[in-house]
Amino acid sequence: MGEYNNQHYQLDQTIIEKRMETKYFAKRIQYYSEVDSTNRIAKELGKVPGNHGVLVLAEQQNAGRGRLGRNWNSPSGNGIWMTLVLQPNLHPGHASMLTIVAALAVNNAIRNITGLDSFIKWPNDIVVNGKKVCGILTEMNTINEKLEYAIIGIGVNVNQDNFPEELKDTATSILLEGKRSIDRIDLIADIMKHFEFYYDVFLKTENLIKLKDLYNENLVNLNRQVRILEKDMEYAGIALGINETGVLLVKTVETVEDGEITIIKGVVSGEVSVRGIYGYV
Ligand code: BTN
Repeated sequence: MGEYNNQHYQLDQTIIEKRMETKYFAKRIQYYSEVDSTNRIAKELGKVPGNHGVLVLAEQQNAGRGRLGRNWNSPSGNGIWMTLVLQPNLHPGHASMLTIVAALAVNNAIRNITGLDSFIKWPNDIVVNGKKVCGILTEMNTINEKLEYAIIGIGVNVNQDNFPEELKDTATSILLEGKRSIDRIDLIADIMKHFEFYYDVFLKTENLIKLKDLYNENLVNLNRQVRILEKDMEYAGIALGINETGVLLVKTVETVEDGEITIIKGVVSGEVSVRGIYGYV
């Protein structure tokens, strides 16, 4: 037993389905007590027509996957490890914006359910007090230039009271920051509700024109110095927020022969990390 009165209970598929306040997201839930990765299962489901909105949920993942080929620590009993299957009629080039839509939804739900001041770290981490409580991994497949599926994997550290040594500096949980454990089902239901709402807004224009201001208001790095780590180069600048396609605009200053010029660079998510000047945020 840790420092906190941490409730250990199993997630229950039928109870969760009944608690959803959505029209079509997570009306069907595929639950596993243990699985390698909910993203892997969701990809299988994505190939089968009629699975739009199915949520894959696991109590534990033994091969949870993160961005940039990293592992995702997914212990049993205290996190939310879930992947939403989407089969939208969407231009494949626009599907990566779903990650931004998901981040907005998770951040809103965390604030709503826990009262914590969570923020978004571009493109799709959610942080509380400078440490990560949630990561999102979106994957997709196209057939003949048409989007077959997009799957949105969401991992939230909810009721963990400690982390492996190598994660301690950058990861935290809602329990550790809020000093109380919360009902994971409340949070799952609220994430799905917000996600469906913002998704419908996004689909109308297939861009973030209606959502970018809200996203930027919740951006932890807004108007702060950031370092952009690309595959073979690194540079610093001031984060100005996203534009309507989800690109992060960064103001950089470059030295030229007769002085300095200011350049606004667009950072596209993918093989890129954004860090604060001194650390993770
Ligand atoms: C990141 O690196 O920040 C993304 C982490 C995404 C983790 C979630 S947990 C549920 C889903 N299944 C996975 O294997 N990964 C995602």
